[in-house]
Amino acid sequence: MKKQVTVSAPGKLMLLGEHAVVYNRPCIVTAVGQRLSATLEIISENRLELDAKDVKVTGYIKQLVELGQGNIPKGANFVEMAVKNFNEKFKINSGIRIRTQSESSSLFGLGSSSASTVCTIKGLAVLFDIKLSNKDIFKLAYKTVLDVQGKGSGFDVVAAIYGGTLYFVTGGKVIEPIEIEELPLIVGYSGIKADTVTLIKEVAEKASRYPDLIDSIYTHIGKMVELSKIAFLAKTWPVVGELMNFDQGMLESLGVGSAKLSAMIYAARDAGAWGAKLSGAGIGDCMIALTPINKISDVEQAITRSGGQVIKVRTNVEGVRIEK
Ligand code: MEV
Repeated sequence: MKKQVTVSAPGKLMLLGEHAVVYNRPCIVTAVGQRLSATLEIISENRLELDAKDVKVTGYIKQLVELGQGNIPKGANFVEMAVKNFNEKFKINSGIRIRTQSESSSLFGLGSSSASTVCTIKGLAVLFDIKLSNKDIFKLAYKTVLDVQGKGSGFDVVAAIYGGTLYFVTGGKVIEPIEIEELPLIVGYSGIKADTVTLIKEVAEKASRYPDLIDSIYTHIGKMVELSKIAFLAKTWPVVGELMNFDQGMLESLGVGSAKLSAMIYAARDAGAWGAKLSGAGIGDCMIALTPINKISDVEQAITRSGGQVIKVRTNVEGVRIEK
């Protein structure tokens, strides 16, 4: 049995299908490298010790028997619930020290919670010599997401586990790699932090007042995802771009657009992007623009001029892996 291990997992970017994917529709997600790494160590005290400086958690201590109870700081909840769920399933009953470190700011919404959840589960499996398939890791990670957030599709943890670009249906009903190389994608951060849980609730509230209308919007989004999957595989980027624009219209209908994101999205389209949309829960976080190579600098400048911050990310990167 090892005493210490370091694992890393990528972040994620939703390409198409957000919100609808919470309700049994497909989405397309890509793993991005900004990676998060976690070092896990067995300790003799019967407790969890956590340092996650990038989410302002230092010297956090919780007894194993109290995991998941009491006041849990926002930056600690995914790791703590992941340890709790792992311990309940595999009865490791051992103290653990975990240190996480992210290559990107958690503010961008690129998936530091999902990556830390997946790193925790993978790291524990390695430390305690428990063979877990990707699907097993997904089940535990998705349970952790639901325990913390109440609702969610699991698209973020699947990206952290499998890496690459994936066609994914709610809760892992379908997980299918889309074999492509680097995506011609520009990412712009809006400067506003998105609150996924609140936005899912707001959309659900709207759905309770307009059930048929919102359901048909989800169905339309699902169709756009299906068509874009074919276009991704054929690398017909203008078609993918057009479908991204359609999808953005649907997300506006759901009420998760914002003036800031729209300014960045229109600026990117006007500067020559094939298509542009918000990525993720909406209102804030990031927008993405699918862009021909010869227009990259125009689109980047347009996003910056409209008040956004261009973030350099590698897309389609490797999933969770053992570092040392
Ligand atoms: C949030 O980034 C994307 C949502 O679809 C939530 C989820 O799929 O878990 C809104």
